[in-house]
Amino acid sequence: MSDKNPVTGPESYPEPRFDDGALTQVASTKASRRQFIKGVIASGAVASSGAVFLTACGPGEEPAATASAGGVERLLSLNINGQVRRVDVLPNETLAMTLRYKLNLTGTKLGCDRGECGACTVLLDDEAHYSCSTLTHAAKNKAITTIEGLESESGELHPVQQAMIDELGPQCGFCTPGQIMSAVALLTANPNPTRDEARLAMSGNLCRCGAYDNYLNSVMRAAEMA
Ligand code: FES
Ligand code: FES
Repeated sequence: MSDKNPVTGPESYPEPRFDDGALTQVASTKASRRQFIKGVIASGAVASSGAVFLTACGPGEEPAATASAGGVERLLSLNINGQVRRVDVLPNETLAMTLRYKLNLTGTKLGCDRGECGACTVLLDDEAHYSCSTLTHAAKNKAITTIEGLESESGELHPVQQAMIDELGPQCGFCTPGQIMSAVALLTANPNPTRDEARLAMSGNLCRCGAYDNYLNSVMRAAEMA
């Protein structure tokens, strides 16, 4: 049993990403639900003004995908899994939508699409974030890592992926990519977590199959392997 407070915990490992509800461990650097909603509202306002601009284009004219007067630049260069990907992104588009439906990175799952289940977890600068609740524009200067980016160039699985196999972590597997990304974030920040620390760090990832102990066993095995 850890002598650390299991509620507040050390500052060094990833925590759930929203500041309301049961998962209240929010790092100050992470977006809150309120901030996200404000962002969507603000970007929606920008999108509305952009629509005025677009309808002012003459017949047959192509609206520009890049910055327009009073708008935001839409053609972004995103750093995803170590590669620069150019993609046209709406102002209010979430990172999960961009990854899955524009870049075909479907390893990132969409469960609730409202910041509750963790299926969509990706890494931004090595921290776990819900991509369904992150605007793509907010991620444009970050290093984005998805489940597709964990494998080495030689095809070797990440230690967390291998541990998931060794411990038979997943059942149906739907939540597994998100679980793995949270575990990777944890072990990056805290390579030797206690079981309680790991449980807390993984608490933002729900599993309808109830495979929580299997996932915890996997995280602890991955920590031993590293
Ligand atoms: S799909 Fe993002 S938290 Fe559930
Ligand atoms: S393994 Fe089925 S939802 Fe987690």
